[in-house]
Amino acid sequence: MTSGGDAPGMNAAVRAAVRRGWELGLSPVGIRRGYAGLIEGDLSPLTPRDVGGVIEYGGTFLHTARCPAFLTPEGQERALETIQREGLEALIVIGGEGSLAGARWLSQQGVPVVGLPASIDNDIQGTDMAIGVDTALNTVVWALNRIRDTALAHERVFLVEVMGRKSGYIALMGGLAGGAEIVLVPEVEVSLEQVIQEIEAGYRKGKHHSIVVVAEGVTDMLGPTAKLGEAIRARTGLDVRVTVLGHLQRGGSPTAFDRILGSRLGARAVEDVAAGRFGHMVGLRRGELVPVPLIEVERKEPVIDFGLYKLVHSLGK
Ligand code: ADP
Ligand code: F6P
Repeated sequence: MTSGGDAPGMNAAVRAAVRRGWELGLSPVGIRRGYAGLIEGDLSPLTPRDVGGVIEYGGTFLHTARCPAFLTPEGQERALETIQREGLEALIVIGGEGSLAGARWLSQQGVPVVGLPASIDNDIQGTDMAIGVDTALNTVVWALNRIRDTALAHERVFLVEVMGRKSGYIALMGGLAGGAEIVLVPEVEVSLEQVIQEIEAGYRKGKHHSIVVVAEGVTDMLGPTAKLGEAIRARTGLDVRVTVLGHLQRGGSPTAFDRILGSRLGARAVEDVAAGRFGHMVGLRRGELVPVPLIEVERKEPVIDFGLYKLVHSLGK
């Protein structure tokens, strides 16, 4: 099952789990719409032919959902009943931090579960990269390249808001790769004054534009990005525009990296099922696949590299 925010590469993971699982003599079943489908028993067998051609598509052909019902005792009870009634011997949950918390709960109820990390936010403890992150970063770079063309032409300041509810990973790494002048992330406290000083310092150094990448979580600190743009315009007199990338970052054909990561994780998940290994997420650590106990998959420390945070601002001068 795929759950929570969709991520490019989820289809590659399902495809690998079905085909490798079939090879291992397992009988894969696809659960639709994440925990909602598990509660409602919305599922059907999957054969190798059912996953033909899906590797190139973003999103998830199983569909996904955010499912408040699974946070209630009734919903959780119905999910366990589905597992029992359908004779599901193991569950592979592909999703982000929230979905993996759900997987942890199921595991604690005795359900054999393997989790796979999938979230463009890359905010999942225990894995260097989650499925979908690389594709999202490349979408952000694609967008920043185009924004820079018009920012240069009009000598403007652009605030570009990117996704990342609690994590500045997309903002930091997308800003670094996209050559942004400034990156604002929820993990680093900044004031409007500091942002204005940095923009004006760039113009004093002869820059004729500035690209400021703003993680959506920063709005808790500095208010809505549109208002931040107005404040900068009012204080500096500079020509400011705002672009919110939104769900563009969630779509798109997965990059090679995400297709390979999804394939590796999906195959390892069913190999673990066949070997009777459960209660963990398969994470990526320095290029290797490692089992991470689901009880450890809970964000404890910030996900961004503060050395790279300093670097992006050194390179943006
Ligand atoms: P993501 O998996 O992308 O982080 P969400 O945070 O929306 O997306 O989580 C997806 C679903 O996982 C939620 O809609 C809910 O059904 C389930 N879930 C989230 N957190 C928990 C939790 N602490 N315990 C049980 N289920 C959870
Ligand atoms: O969790 C991934 C994510 O894309 C966040 O970055 C974003 O804030 C959120 O999902 C958007 O959620 P939805 O797709 O439900 O609007």
